[in-house]
Amino acid sequence: MPLLDWINKEHAKTSVREVPFHLLNEVATYGAAADNLLIQGDNLLALKALIPFYAGRVKCIFIDPPYNTQSAFEHYDDKLEHSAWLSMMYPRLVLLRDLLSEDGSIWVSIDDNEAHYLKVLMDEIFGRRNFVTTIIWQQRTTRENRKTFSNNHEYLMLYAKNYPHFAATRNDLYLTEEVRSRYKNPDNDPRGAWQSVSANAQAGHATPSQFYTLIAPNGKQHNPPKGTCWRYTQEKIKTEIEANNIWFGKDGNGVPRIKKFLAEAKSGLTPETLWLASEVGTNDFAKKHLIELFRDGDLFDTPKPESLIERVIHIATNPNDIVLDSFLGSGTTAAVAHKMNRRWIGIELGDHARSHCIPRLEKVIAGEAGGISGAVNWTGGGGFRFCTLGAAVFHSQGELNPAVDFATLAAYIWHLETGTPAPASFTNPLLGIHNGVAYYLLYKDILGALRSAEGNLLTAAVLDWLKSLAAHDGACVIYGDLTRLGATRLAAERIVFKQIPYDVTGR
Ligand SMILES: C[S@@+](CC[C@H](N)C(=O)[O-])C[C@H]1O[C@@H](n2cnc3c(N)ncnc32)[C@H](O)[C@@H]1O
Repeated sequence: MPLLDWINKEHAKTSVREVPFHLLNEVATYGAAADNLLIQGDNLLALKALIPFYAGRVKCIFIDPPYNTQSAFEHYDDKLEHSAWLSMMYPRLVLLRDLLSEDGSIWVSIDDNEAHYLKVLMDEIFGRRNFVTTIIWQQRTTRENRKTFSNNHEYLMLYAKNYPHFAATRNDLYLTEEVRSRYKNPDNDPRGAWQSVSANAQAGHATPSQFYTLIAPNGKQHNPPKGTCWRYTQEKIKTEIEANNIWFGKDGNGVPRIKKFLAEAKSGLTPETLWLASEVGTNDFAKKHLIELFRDGDLFDTPKPESLIERVIHIATNPNDIVLDSFLGSGTTAAVAHKMNRRWIGIELGDHARSHCIPRLEKVIAGEAGGISGAVNWTGGGGFRFCTLGAAVFHSQGELNPAVDFATLAAYIWHLETGTPAPASFTNPLLGIHNGVAYYLLYKDILGALRSAEGNLLTAAVLDWLKSLAAHDGACVIYGDLTRLGATRLAAERIVFKQIPYDVTGR
């Protein structure tokens, strides 16, 4: 497969592994206790910090990264050298891919500055087979007369983690009022409203049975127009006429058309790739909403309209799924996900995490009525935790940061060993059994009275206790400070002992 190359690409690729794991410091909780997370910090570090807990669990990622327009906005710079932009995106996209669930999808908002390079980059990271589509969003409706061309659209580049899984689970759009209003009932059919579709098909692939003179109930003869045939055979059309499924107009003299009933219509609409401002809003529309929200505050330059994000989240998720935005800006994705009863994670580097996202989300919790609130009947509730990036889990020489608590190290070890996210908060030395192997962690005070003065040692008494925690006679991996059991005993018990921190790999 042809790949994109640029200066320092190799470094961008290796940087994913080299980014250290960091702790997340919980600073405050807003509203009711909830899983939702707002993180202030560089998303490269924040995404890596999330991996042990969320890898494979996120259903929908929407990101709106700086487009590299070579401008300096009030709240962030959008001026990277072209290669530097690609190097910035590469490792973040790799981490985002690892966070997605098998039926998950990633939607990237972008414009012509980098869209076509981003497409090739995402082909490499997500696989060409997982490219779903590029959506054109009409982001402005007014003409920009000072430019050579008035640019009125942006793109949403959509990739699935695994295309067939996404295709099988994505949602249709709701039938709009406009579509519903096309169904009428001029003949008072007891089966309800219907619309008519052509009874003709292209003649190209027709069989001889589709060419005949159709006789209407009033005796009028109809022939298919040149180059077309009847959609139904003569036999089938007869039964359809008897069933009152063919419409010949009010006076019975019209060309035959097939009745399609609203009750039998697909409950939703297949999403199209052209998203008009009249349906999902514009940038200006989003700014007006922010002006209503922050009457006296400074305005964020490049917000997305809530209705645009609502459509993305509607197609890609169901209530309670996790939505993530790692370039959160003014907090639109988090606000919309919250109003749609999804769980969410938002990451923002700038101070507007505090000056815009927190107050906006507090208003949402209090039942803010703007944006999509009316459309989704939002009346308030829920909450979120605000975190910043803490210290690295491992110091530069590899020694474990003593600030790491049991549950956090357990989550890292579980993820490093099994490649799966931490199932729950760990409170027990038996982390779990995966593919027939039981994983144990002896760390901090988890051994209680069994802990020796020298630390968390694996002794015969400790092993007896560990064995009592689960009926498991298969292989085990035990992490601890040291083992007092000899190689023969360990082999006989099918135990692999790993020493902390030297055997905690992947950092
Ligand atoms: C285009 S704005 C997003 C706007 C957002 N969609 C909204 O509706 O308000 C891009 C945001 O990404 C943030 N950003 C840029 N680099 C980042 C990084 N390395 N980590 C986290 N956020 C970053 C910027 O501060 C900016 O707020």
